[in-house]
Amino acid sequence: MNIPWVEKYRPRSFDEIVSQNIAINNIKEFTKTTDMPHMIFAGPAGTGKTSTALIIARTFLKKDEIATNLLELNASDTVRMDFVRNVLKGFVNQNIIKNGSLKFVILDEADNIPSQVQQALRRIIEKTSNNIKFILLCNYINRIIDPIISRCAVFRFVNLPKEKIIERLKYISKKEKLPLPSNKTQEFFETLFFISGGDLRKAINTLQMSVALELLDDLDINEILKISGFLDEKTLEHLIEAIKNKDYKKSREIIDLVENLDSRNFIRQLLNSLLPLDINPQNASILRSFIGDIDYRISQGADEHIQIAALLAKIIELVNK
Ligand SMILES: Nc1ncnc2c1ncn2[C@@H]1O[C@H](COP(=O)(O)OP(=O)(O)OP(=O)(O)O)[C@@H](O)[C@H]1O
Ligand SMILES: [Mg+2]
Repeated sequence: MNIPWVEKYRPRSFDEIVSQNIAINNIKEFTKTTDMPHMIFAGPAGTGKTSTALIIARTFLKKDEIATNLLELNASDTVRMDFVRNVLKGFVNQNIIKNGSLKFVILDEADNIPSQVQQALRRIIEKTSNNIKFILLCNYINRIIDPIISRCAVFRFVNLPKEKIIERLKYISKKEKLPLPSNKTQEFFETLFFISGGDLRKAINTLQMSVALELLDDLDINEILKISGFLDEKTLEHLIEAIKNKDYKKSREIIDLVENLDSRNFIRQLLNSLLPLDINPQNASILRSFIGDIDYRISQGADEHIQIAALLAKIIELVNK
């Protein structure tokens, strides 16, 4: 019984989707009739987009229709134009045997489809009959071409707030009968939320990993932070101390000793710890915008060590000034 909890606890009905109230309420309305529009779900990872799309398909399809009337594709399948032409067209054009039943195409990571292929997709969407419904999933709506957007109802999914993530983690812990030491449970869940950054999939996976690695007995929060690519609390304290003392060399030494540091996680953690530092409001906004730049550069593949070094230098320049 080793199925991942993210699958075991994947919501099966709209009511089980945590948060996302605005999107879900509207989607529910749209799914009351078979002339629902094509849809785009846009938003960060692990917020319920795929789950919601599957629930919609299951709302309309009987169990034995799922295999024939639901096509799930990932952008990586569709990068090739001929795939879109052949597979997608094939599915769309197949005669629908039972009268009136719908067909669904769930297209994951649609924002990774090159725009030329999106043009081909657009023509397919244009020409399909009313019985075929497209649901496109993406992280960034601005990477979808306008002619597709204008043919779809767009719903935005947002990162889940702390209480919702913790509520779901508590629910799963209860179902799994996890032996959590009560004096540390709240801190444990808050750490899982912090690690997740609002991504419920990540929160659930980290919970399951903590169980698998037997970290529950004494709830070693630092160990959980470390295996997730964050600094443990002690190291973070030392780092903040070095920054306060404007000791650049020391701060680099501390960072260089950390194994398995995930630089974007580290930046998020650092951002969280800047409050106790003495930085005036003007410098604080300079720093925030600098952090935004660094995060972007790393996301685009810049050298992480150099970027982190630059960030530390900037913080030290602006602190106590
Ligand atoms: N809003 C939510 N309510 C309940 N469970 C959720 C929610 N969002 C995510 N989950 C949990 O996380 C898992 C992954 O969610 P899902 O696949 O729907 O995310 P996604 O938004 O499609 O993410 P991605 O952009 O990475 O594909 C689900 O199986 C479920 O366990
Ligand atoms: Mg998904």
